[in-house]
Amino acid sequence: MKGIVFSEFIEMVEQRFSPEVADRMIEAAKVPSGGAYTAVGTYSHEEMLALIAELARLTGGSVDELVQAYGRHLFTRFTQLYPGFFEGVTSAFDFLQRIEDHVHLEVRKLYPDAELPRFDTVQRDAHHLVMVYESRRPFAALAQGLIDGCLEHWGETADVRTTDLSEPGITRVRFDIVRRSAA
Ligand code: HEM
Repeated sequence: MKGIVFSEFIEMVEQRFSPEVADRMIEAAKVPSGGAYTAVGTYSHEEMLALIAELARLTGGSVDELVQAYGRHLFTRFTQLYPGFFEGVTSAFDFLQRIEDHVHLEVRKLYPDAELPRFDTVQRDAHHLVMVYESRRPFAALAQGLIDGCLEHWGETADVRTTDLSEPGITRVRFDIVRRSAA
């Protein structure tokens, strides 16, 4: 996993909880990097899972809730860090349909060693988008938080229903996103 995913996570923990909680989390998780991440570096996704597990233990929150909150935070940061991806995009559905063939494709050009999930996205009608997340890593809750952040960014509200279609070694989750208000 790229360092940016880690450094933004630690920043969220510092802001949402405190710098002390962030330090205690890093120390308790005993991660090989010692919590020092560079944006271009690559670290095992197991480190992220270890940090999140410690944060859940320290704060009493659930792992999925914390990962989702992180996804929302990360989306806001992406809008600041990569404004080019947002130019000409008029709605959350529009953006979500560009992740696989445009956003993550460009991310892979920037970071050839990025570990990206696969998204199959189909718009059923004006209000209903189906996204199927597939990855060898268990980050569907991160996808859910990013989807929530995306909807918030365009001021849209939607019901997001998840269906777990995972198999051994593959996390596969179907998101049915049904928009309540038009953009
Ligand atoms: C400007 C928008 C976005 C950018 C720049 C971006 C970039 C990235 C980067 C750099 C990674 C890390 C790759 C690695 O760790 O090696 C990543 C992973 C990921 N991205 Fe995106 N992304 C964007 C939007 C989204 C959105 C909206 C979603 C959800 C619908 C999404 C879903 C994910 C997930 C779930 C992962 C974790 C890897 C995995 O699950 O296997 N991304 N993305």
